[in-house]
Formats: sequence, structure tokens, C-alpha cells
Amino acid sequence: MKEFKKEIAYRFVQIEELDKEDTELVELAKKATRHAYAPYSHFSVGAALRLADGTTVIGANQENAAYPSGLCAERTAIFAAQAQHPELAITTLVIAACNEKNFTENPISPCGACRQVMLEIEERYHTDLRVLLYGMNGIYIINNVRDLLPFGFEDSSMH
Ligand code: THU
Repeated sequence: MKEFKKEIAYRFVQIEELDKEDTELVELAKKATRHAYAPYSHFSVGAALRLADGTTVIGANQENAAYPSGLCAERTAIFAAQAQHPELAITTLVIAACNEKNFTENPISPCGACRQVMLEIEERYHTDLRVLLYGMNGIYIINNVRDLLPFGFEDSSMH
């Protein structure tokens, strides 16, 4: 029997510690929560991403009376970016969320389906996709999606 360990490195920072570009992306993700359509969960999630040329794209969760037809904020942003700029890698993605009262104190983390979609971005463009998770208490910075989805299934798994 062989035993292995996978460890991930991540940071927990305050917004003042971010550079100008990341600060802008956090602010965009927070603002994007206002674009959520969340009449069922009353949980508004915003996403903001930056493309390799600096362009920013936002997304927000869009719910539906037929619940599974809705989509998470992360995927609305990623798919919009890919539809408009298929040639550009996504370099950073920020997520922020609001409950009925305020932004969440602790960062929220993307669901499994969004991690899977994010993983494909890394494989498609052969780059790391940095993920920033915003909470009022601070921001987690995760260096790449493989850290969020170890043992992920990707195209290369089929060859
Ligand atoms: N949601 C997101 O948009 N992103 C996440 O990372 C977690 C959950 C949405 C889906 C649904 O509209 C609401 O939050 C409650 O689950």
C-alpha cells in the first residue's frame, strides 16, 4: 500500500492587500450580485472575471421556476466570456455573494459543476485560472482550479 498526500496553498487576505486589478474585480463581483435573479433562494451571487487582455466580464446567478434550469453566477460569466472572446484565456475569477441581509461574512466556494467548467478553462488555454473568494471577513486566493478540484475529470483523462 502506498499513501499519498495532496496539499494546496492558498492565502487569506484583506481587500487593502490586493493590487489595483484584483480590487477592481472584487468590486465588480460585489456589484454583479445586484444583477442576480434569485427569487427562489434569495441568495445573490456575483462573479467577475478578467481575460488575458485585461477585459472584464461579469455574471450573476439566474434562477428559474424549473429549478435545475437556472445557472450559477460563475458559469454565466464564464460562458458569456467564452462566447464573446473564445481566443482569450480567463486569468482570474472573483465570486461574491449576498444573503437577504448583506454580503456573506465568510467567502463562498464554487459548486462542483462550476469547478468542472473552470477546470476546462485551464485545460483549454493551458494556463492557471486564479480564483478569489470574497467575504466581508476577508478574501481567499486560490492559485488555480486544479487545487479546488483535485482528481478532476478532463479531456486528457480520455486518452
Ligand atoms: N450559486 C452560485 O451562483 N454560485 C455558487 O458558487 C453557489 C451557488 C447560486 C445558485 C443558486 O441560484 C443560489 O446560489 C443558491 O444555491
